[in-house]
Amino acid sequence: MAFVVKKIIHGNEYYYLNENKRVDGKVKTKTIAYLGKTKKEAEKKAEGIIRNMGNSSVLPTQPKLTAPKSSAPSPKEISIEDMAIFCKRRGFVYPSGDIYGGLAGFWDFGHLGVELKNNIKREWWKFHVQEREDIVGIDGAIITNPKVWEASGHVSGFNVNDVLVTCKKCKKASKVEKYEVENVKCACGGEYDWKKARTIEQMFKTNIGVEGFAYLRPETAQLIFTNFKYVNENTRMKFPFGIAQIGKAFRNEIAPRDFLFRTREFEQMEIEYFIKPNQECSYKIGNAKILVYSEAMQKSGKEPEKMTFKQAHKEGIIKTDWHAYWLEQEFLWFINLGANPEKFRVRQQLGDEKSHYALDTWDLEYKFPFGWKELEGVANRTDFDLKQHEKFSGKDLKIFDEETKEKFLPHVVCEPSLGVGRAFLVFMFDAYYYDEERSNIVLKLNSKLAPIKAAVFPIVKRNDFEKVAENVVKDLREEMNIIYDKSGSIGRRYSRNDEIGTPYCITIDEDSLKKQDVTVRDRDTKKQRRVKISELKETLRQLIGGEIEFESMGNLVH
Ligand code: GAP
Repeated sequence: MAFVVKKIIHGNEYYYLNENKRVDGKVKTKTIAYLGKTKKEAEKKAEGIIRNMGNSSVLPTQPKLTAPKSSAPSPKEISIEDMAIFCKRRGFVYPSGDIYGGLAGFWDFGHLGVELKNNIKREWWKFHVQEREDIVGIDGAIITNPKVWEASGHVSGFNVNDVLVTCKKCKKASKVEKYEVENVKCACGGEYDWKKARTIEQMFKTNIGVEGFAYLRPETAQLIFTNFKYVNENTRMKFPFGIAQIGKAFRNEIAPRDFLFRTREFEQMEIEYFIKPNQECSYKIGNAKILVYSEAMQKSGKEPEKMTFKQAHKEGIIKTDWHAYWLEQEFLWFINLGANPEKFRVRQQLGDEKSHYALDTWDLEYKFPFGWKELEGVANRTDFDLKQHEKFSGKDLKIFDEETKEKFLPHVVCEPSLGVGRAFLVFMFDAYYYDEERSNIVLKLNSKLAPIKAAVFPIVKRNDFEKVAENVVKDLREEMNIIYDKSGSIGRRYSRNDEIGTPYCITIDEDSLKKQDVTVRDRDTKKQRRVKISELKETLRQLIGGEIEFESMGNLVH
């Protein structure tokens, strides 16, 4: 049972969503979320969270007048609604067609959003394709032959899986899965009107030329399967190997929600990793620790357990070595780019949840402000897709094994599949920080992801300062995204850049004219160091690439 609680801290009201759970025969209260400072805002947020939790009841606000020992809410906490407002205000993301009222499930990326999104995709490609010998990429079409979707099972399975229902009590329309029909209730506790339930097709259709119609792809993966044999022949790669792709996907979601989390147009970053049947994992599974939540734990009401991926595999919790390996790689990609490891867990999908093609699926989940949710799916698709395409196309997609002199159909032992929008949210949530001392938001994005790498300021508006600054900007722009900012006080210029995550601010002052050096200020520590203009570009390149630490460059300014 979840309920809203008011706490008075230093005379101010704060609202939280608490939940009572029976653990070992005792009722324990846990805070699930911070809901804001007003009752109205809190009840609205609570409704959304509870709807997402699938909880059926919420109790009215329970005032608690004694001040708890804990301090005020963490300055980092921000709701998904507030994140959407922040992203719009600072030029990251706008509702698509906003001047006409927008369109649910469609978003436009602004001048900073497009940079962050491109940086996420570039880092993903670098880590998964360029830095590996066993993965190559492709870029398939958004619209392809509709038979592809018949073969893949999307037309008969995925396309008709979502059912639109209306609650008899609160009258709200919701989406339920096919397997949930007649088995679930509305979040308000009311019964759904099952007689009026109807299936909504998940795949968008469009008209094309004389052929009639085609679908907008609901996943990028199928283009990998249909091109698989060509890529294998052209690259002559040995098994195991993977094919990666980044591109748009479209789903006619009944209930798009939570900003970029569930949209109708989104981008996926996917890999199909092919092995010979039963081929063992040739990579080491490491010792990164994460919360593990298997199907058995979920069914027996156990809490997730923290352990290494190696241990999870050794104890048979994550069954295949490949699954343990790929889940760890995906987790590490996020962590290496500055995400908070404490907000991740891996959860095995339950039988009913799994897609029609999957033998076993583990999700990398992230603790969003609206609860633990799927960030990335990692499915074992076996030879399902290639087998289907062989059947429907009549083409032989088997590979001749030089060692055994026999043909075999490869298995996709793992398909890491991540939405760019969800990754975008993770990096924004983990970077967002309200700094009490600065009275300003500091977006602590990893410098590889930051939309703008450095801002250059002449300390005051004066021709000689501006001339040096303009030369510095011109030189740096050859390598990175730079802002040239000469308006407002230095403090204001720092705040503006802190808020959009610019890791370094460079000031041209009196000394720059005399000694040909500049001050470089670090966003997170506010520390400043002097660097020669002639060494600035290379120094910044190394700082952004993580090759050197800020502390080790130039001379500290006191
Ligand atoms: N090829 C496998 C596949 O598409 P999925 O679990 O349906 O599997 C994979 O989707 C990932 O794509 C999800 O984990 C999520 O990151 C992203 N994704 C799926 N549907 C989405 C939506 N409607 N909006 C935003 N991202 C979505």
